[in-house]
Amino acid sequence: MRPLKTAIIGTGFMSWVHLDALRRIGVHVTGMLGSSEAKSLAAASKFGLNRTYLSIEEVLEESEVDCVHVCTPNQSHFDLVSRALKAGKHVLCEKPLAMDSHESAELVHLASQFNQQATAVNYNIRFYPLCSEVRCRIQNGNLGEVLHVNGSYIQDWLLKSTDYNWRVLAGQGGALRAVADIGTHWLDLITWMTGLRISAVCADLMTVHPVRNRPVGEITTFAAADESARKPVEITTDDYGAILLQFENGARGSLHVSQVNAGRKNCLRFEVAGSESACAWNSEVPNELWMGHRDRSNEALIRDPALLSPAAAIHAAYPGGHNEGYADSFRGCFAAFYNAIQQRDFSGRSYPTFSDGDREIRICEAILRSHQSRSWVEVP
Ligand SMILES: NC(=O)c1ccc[n+]([C@@H]2O[C@H](COP(=O)([O-])OP(=O)(O)OC[C@H]3O[C@@H](n4cnc5c(N)ncnc54)[C@H](O)[C@@H]3O)[C@@H](O)[C@H]2O)c1
Repeated sequence: MRPLKTAIIGTGFMSWVHLDALRRIGVHVTGMLGSSEAKSLAAASKFGLNRTYLSIEEVLEESEVDCVHVCTPNQSHFDLVSRALKAGKHVLCEKPLAMDSHESAELVHLASQFNQQATAVNYNIRFYPLCSEVRCRIQNGNLGEVLHVNGSYIQDWLLKSTDYNWRVLAGQGGALRAVADIGTHWLDLITWMTGLRISAVCADLMTVHPVRNRPVGEITTFAAADESARKPVEITTDDYGAILLQFENGARGSLHVSQVNAGRKNCLRFEVAGSESACAWNSEVPNELWMGHRDRSNEALIRDPALLSPAAAIHAAYPGGHNEGYADSFRGCFAAFYNAIQQRDFSGRSYPTFSDGDREIRICEAILRSHQSRSWVEVP
């Protein structure tokens, strides 16, 4: 089979993270489509791309493009993913898959109609080798029965009322923000590692800044704004959330999410407590897994493919001691996705699927309903 070729939609933060990871696994990126001609041209020039796309039609009409990566704000995912699928492309969409569960259910349905095309949602955190190791150890029974899972995903880049990005607007990012933007990574990871579905949630959310002073013009994720021109904008989305969880096996859990936690740049933590042992991980120290025991010394497992379970070792690109991190998790996710395409295995066993993306959106909607009703809500 000839090497696969991919076009990236969007020219912001995720677009160049995707480009970098795709190049590492030998997928040829034909070009990027930006929201303006100037952005498409700038991306082509900066990254040495052959094509400068000026419209989504140009991307989809190009027969040599096998796959499309959707790296645009959430509001545009449904339209771009639908069109790419109908044009015969494999599709990898950034999370969240869509704005709400009506859209995500329709995309799951569409993906089932085009079942010779691979469809994935980029829940890249699964591909940190030590998170994969936790999944293996839970499957092997090393932790015993899962009793409870606790953790957080916290950042500080939206701490000030002058901090702004399209995500803060419900119309562009969705009704939930901190929970749907970063909490969803934690919820997907925990569900995938434990193999346990979340059956009910009880949530308390907070909007710290009901008004933000937004800069005039577009701000790429994590970029500093031009201070000269600003205007106030009303915010309804959550800056913080605390959520109690019930799992299908009766296990319990809790998650807190914040984008206003000073000093925490991008920190996902979890601790899984099993009936035999426990384990804990922190994305800011991603090469170390803590294993806790009741009757013997605790352990620290350092990421080293020679010491990991085979299913986890395949996600470690470098030998032990050569630290890997955020960018490598994209490489791992895309390697799984493109290997499956090369093998024409569209079962979605090795990567996060549209069904996983749809499930996440239904959990997020249950979280919002729980907050609004101040009560426990079942996840449908
Ligand atoms: N997996 C992760 O770790 C992770 C991290 C950050 C963002 N994301 C997701 O990635 C997506 C993009 O987020 P980002 O942080 O890169 O945003 P960003 O604002 O940095 O970039 C978005 C880009 O899309 C462009 N764009 C907007 N509409 C477009 C259209 N119709 N066609 C072409 N380009 C268009 C914008 O001009 C901008 O360049 C979001 O869905 C977000 O949730 C995922």
